Amino acid sequence: MIIVLNNKSNLTKEEYKSYFKTIDNINTKHNLVLCPSYINIGVIEPKNISLGAQNVSSSLNGAYTGEISAEQLKSFNVKYCIVGHSERRQTETYKEINSKIKRLLEQDITPILCVGETNEEKNKKIFYKVINEEILSAISDLSKKDQEKIIIAYEPLWAIGTGKIPTLKELNDIINMIKKILPNNKILYGGSINNTNVDTFKNFSLIDGFLLGSLSLKAFKLNDFLKKLENMTN
Ligand code: PGA
Repeated sequence: MIIVLNNKSNLTKEEYKSYFKTIDNINTKHNLVLCPSYINIGVIEPKNISLGAQNVSSSLNGAYTGEISAEQLKSFNVKYCIVGHSERRQTETYKEINSKIKRLLEQDITPILCVGETNEEKNKKIFYKVINEEILSAISDLSKKDQEKIIIAYEPLWAIGTGKIPTLKELNDIINMIKKILPNNKILYGGSINNTNVDTFKNFSLIDGFLLGSLSLKAFKLNDFLKKLENMTN
């Protein structure tokens, strides 16, 4: 499975160094992708895990103050990059997200595209329409080959940091809907995953991994989480 660790805007340089030692030495068969905040990306070169970024500029290198380009990420050996996380989506258009995906693919960095509905959209039962539009506007002008390189992270906004997760029936329906658009892509689930509720996914084979927010910061709990996952997927 692919386990993406989204540190968000957490960990000072010193905190990151000690956190990193634990994470890079976790013994697991799963593919760990650590997405530190930008400022920590170059602090230590990983030996075992893959590096990811939480965002990228939609432009090439140039006069874009405060932006980080895909080529710069590549030079730090970044292999994956989250795009369109819901915490950014409020200020980002899907046109920008589409450009970000293109910049990443030009550098052979795998985009992890976040999609998901708000609580209101869930209650209005328009989540299929919302997710469909989110995916299509982000990828529809890409070649099929490029589309297939993208990892989709289904992250319902009402589940992020709330302790709530979808039922397996809800997840099953949404993932099958995503598979109608992108039958061959890897799909992750993200939102309030912890060491207890991960049991829910025991016999659920439709997802290829998880995107973890707050759990990503607790290195020792994460170790337990990965052990649990190992037993579940044996
Ligand atoms: P959470 O965050 O695991 O803390 O809910 C997930 C995310 O924002 O990607």
